[in-house]
Amino acid sequence: MARKWKADRIPDQAGRLAIVTGANSGIGFDTAQELGKAGATVILACRSDEKGKEAAGRTLAKHPQARLSVETLDLASLASVRAFAAAICREHRRLDLLINNAGVMMPPERTLTEDGFELQFGINHLGHFALTALLLDLMVGTDGSRVVTVSSSAHRWGDIDFDDLNWERRTYRRMPSYGQSKLANLLFTFELQRRLEQVGAPTAALAAHPGWTGTNLQRHSGAIRRLNPVFSMKPWQGALPTLYAATASDAEGGAYYGPDGLMGLRGYPTRVATSDAALDFEAAERLWRVSEELTGVRCTVRRLGG
Ligand SMILES: NC(=O)c1ccc[n+]([C@@H]2O[C@H](COP(=O)([O-])OP(=O)(O)OC[C@H]3O[C@@H](n4cnc5c(N)ncnc54)[C@H](OP(=O)(O)O)[C@@H]3O)[C@@H](O)[C@H]2O)c1
Repeated sequence: MARKWKADRIPDQAGRLAIVTGANSGIGFDTAQELGKAGATVILACRSDEKGKEAAGRTLAKHPQARLSVETLDLASLASVRAFAAAICREHRRLDLLINNAGVMMPPERTLTEDGFELQFGINHLGHFALTALLLDLMVGTDGSRVVTVSSSAHRWGDIDFDDLNWERRTYRRMPSYGQSKLANLLFTFELQRRLEQVGAPTAALAAHPGWTGTNLQRHSGAIRRLNPVFSMKPWQGALPTLYAATASDAEGGAYYGPDGLMGLRGYPTRVATSDAALDFEAAERLWRVSEELTGVRCTVRRLGG
């Protein structure tokens, strides 16, 4: 891997179609902007159409040649996920990049999605699980396609409590709850990669994390937010591991990329380690089945035409 990989090393993306969830803010904004700048057609999948258009306008002001569109996607609503995916499958014949980036962190109270899931597990994991499942045939039909899911070092804070995924029985604790959702992101990525490999699909699943990046994510955590000016990176730099996983020719399916600096908080993209819990095959397989049951969306990995 080249030292100090930056966005100017993104290979030409002309002719490629990318979806970035949560593209109106933080690292999703910079991820979408850089992919658009490199020539990809980018769909900004945002829960607020207004914020999505404002974000597209900001990029177009700097890069008028960028090919961007905004589509509404609320990952806290399975109906919205289904409607979004159906529109994409209707309108497009290929999908090269799916960037599962959107997320929420540590709301102070236990909050529920439209479908009754705890907010962080529901948005960060289940919404993206259903979205990926519904777009998978399109991706498997596209040579060299990649699913990149944004996790976090906070995956180490949590475990997957299969008896209480939605914090109904225990007292809600926001840090382990965020950790559970980010651990689920990694288990899903690695299980997806295993299943893609098993059928010889031309799609890869990779994970990334942005270290500590100052964004709106910290709005529920005053303590972390106050330290942002000292420790955090800017969103352009936090987006680099995602962009590396999405576009670098030597990024590998099943790998996890993050910043190379002290404790993975800042720096430039490199391959990084996960907790042992993220490598638990049985938990990953079980989470897959449970996610299918909870969302009612089957995630079938098959090679088309083969
Ligand atoms: N910043 C960090 O230090 C850090 C560290 C580790 C991991 N991460 C991960 O990085 C990813 C991006 O976070 P960020 O730091 O860029 O935060 P951010 O600035 O708050 O961006 C999060 C994005 O997700 C969107 N989103 C939230 N709920 C959604 C929903 N129900 N449906 C669709 N979109 C939704 C937000 O939309 P609205 O603007 O409408 O709210 C926003 O566009 C997250 O997965 C986060 O867990 C961040």
